[in-house]
Amino acid sequence: MNAGISARLITTPIYYANGPPHIGHLYSTVLADAFHRYQRLLGRKSILTTGTDEHGSKIQKKAMDTQQDPRVYVNHISSQYRALFEECQIDFQDFIRTTDSSHLETVQQTWSKMSENGFISKKQHSGWYCLPDEAFVPEDQTELVNGNMRTSKESGHPLEWTEEDNYTFSVCQFQETIHKWLKDNRIVKPHLFMGSLDSLFSSPIPDLSLSRPTSRVSWGIPVPQDPTQTIYVWFDALLNYLTMGQKHNIWPADVHVVGKDILKFHAIYFPAFLLANDLALPKRIFCHSHWTVDHKKMSKSLNNVVDPRQAMSITGPEGLRYYLLRQGVPGYDNNFDEDKLVHYFNQELADTLGNLLSRCTGAKLNPEQIRKPVNQELLDLALLSPLARKIVESQERLPNQVTECFEEFNFYQGITAIMDLLRATNTFVHEEQPWKMKDNPSRRDLVIHLSLESLRIAGILLQPIIPVTRIRVLVSAIPRHPVFGSGVVVSQRKNLGTISYTIVSFFGPNHLLIPQTCLT
Ligand code: MSP
Repeated sequence: MNAGISARLITTPIYYANGPPHIGHLYSTVLADAFHRYQRLLGRKSILTTGTDEHGSKIQKKAMDTQQDPRVYVNHISSQYRALFEECQIDFQDFIRTTDSSHLETVQQTWSKMSENGFISKKQHSGWYCLPDEAFVPEDQTELVNGNMRTSKESGHPLEWTEEDNYTFSVCQFQETIHKWLKDNRIVKPHLFMGSLDSLFSSPIPDLSLSRPTSRVSWGIPVPQDPTQTIYVWFDALLNYLTMGQKHNIWPADVHVVGKDILKFHAIYFPAFLLANDLALPKRIFCHSHWTVDHKKMSKSLNNVVDPRQAMSITGPEGLRYYLLRQGVPGYDNNFDEDKLVHYFNQELADTLGNLLSRCTGAKLNPEQIRKPVNQELLDLALLSPLARKIVESQERLPNQVTECFEEFNFYQGITAIMDLLRATNTFVHEEQPWKMKDNPSRRDLVIHLSLESLRIAGILLQPIIPVTRIRVLVSAIPRHPVFGSGVVVSQRKNLGTISYTIVSFFGPNHLLIPQTCLT
């Protein structure tokens, strides 16, 4: 596979089709989408893939419990994910379902190649199987609870003793190479998550069971040449990235976004599969922590799972996106709090951003809703005010500052910096009181000019976070341009006094910024 010119592949995990999406699933997806949109904002070609993980015993059991054919069941759940992501403005280019025939081909071909190369062998396997995690758990990572129930120390989920014939894959032959690759290239971000992986490398990694007897798990991809065995759901699921990479002709992926509970699968097993196939390893694995409720893990048994649709009914999809990225600090667990959702929406999007916009484009103050050019002398005079100077300096600094944050998925820091500029601009308008400047129209225009510049910069930088609102902000903050027409041109002041235009294209699939030098 060939990496097309600067094309980037960004992936979300694929979601178990065993129940409707919750806020944690949406978070993984929104993080990946914000990063993908940020790439496009920089003018880079980027492909975002997401989808659903539809095979395995967990889903087979759920379909049976609800007396449905598994295919009908997964169709229903998968469409819920897709609809949610569309509503939340997730700009995915592809939505993979592991039941897609093209994926089945990738999985069986990869299996056959690994088998031919001697990486897979059939063995008797016994151990503790965890259905919710779809994984065998080594004895030393289990514990007895209440004297009779064996659970996984890591996830707390119950285990069942299983003895069966299956195909296994020796991971430990790649262990050193993978550990070195992870460390030398600082693949896992934020780096603090490497700690949990390092400990796994301290002893030989046990063989991985790559199949289950069809008599136990029939809902999955059959092992080539051996219909008595079904391919292990994690092998099937991880190869979704390969199916997508092949389809879009990009490999390796630039970023796999994953939650901390599935880091091991992406940072150890997946690279081992790739090495066994002579394929390049991913450039970055971005890991995030979890959302909790009342500081407790979300779970069906505690009945505290947050439904994104309920949250969206309060602030709309963009308000929810904003909240997840504004409050979510990827390295740490974050507590979902409806009051904060409302607070950020009201205080920052409605009051700080919305209020500044309506002040500067209000019927009385700026009936034409345009940003008039101002002359250099007036600008220089305005900059005698410390607040005006602070705003201008911040306008100049902000793009680089925000870029540095977004590059590391620290969206919360970037948003804070953007809001700081908007808050300072609101204070500036409040102090200047342009609505009392009837007799001093040039000063009034200057106040509006500086304020709309803050809005323009904020509008652009917020595009990855709130993609629809940004269009409204920019359209409102922009004059109609004689050539480009309907509000797609904004003026940008550089180095004070030099005025140039930046064209923001809303029409193409990628929101390119095309700088033009066009002095007024
Ligand atoms: N199907 C596997 C992933 C296969 S990827 C090749 C899976 N699915 S999942 O539906 O259980 O989880 C998908 C993602 O949602 C994971 O990144 C997981 O960390 C994330 N979240 C699940 N609960 C979460 C929270 N409470 N908070 C944040 N993210 C959480 O695992």
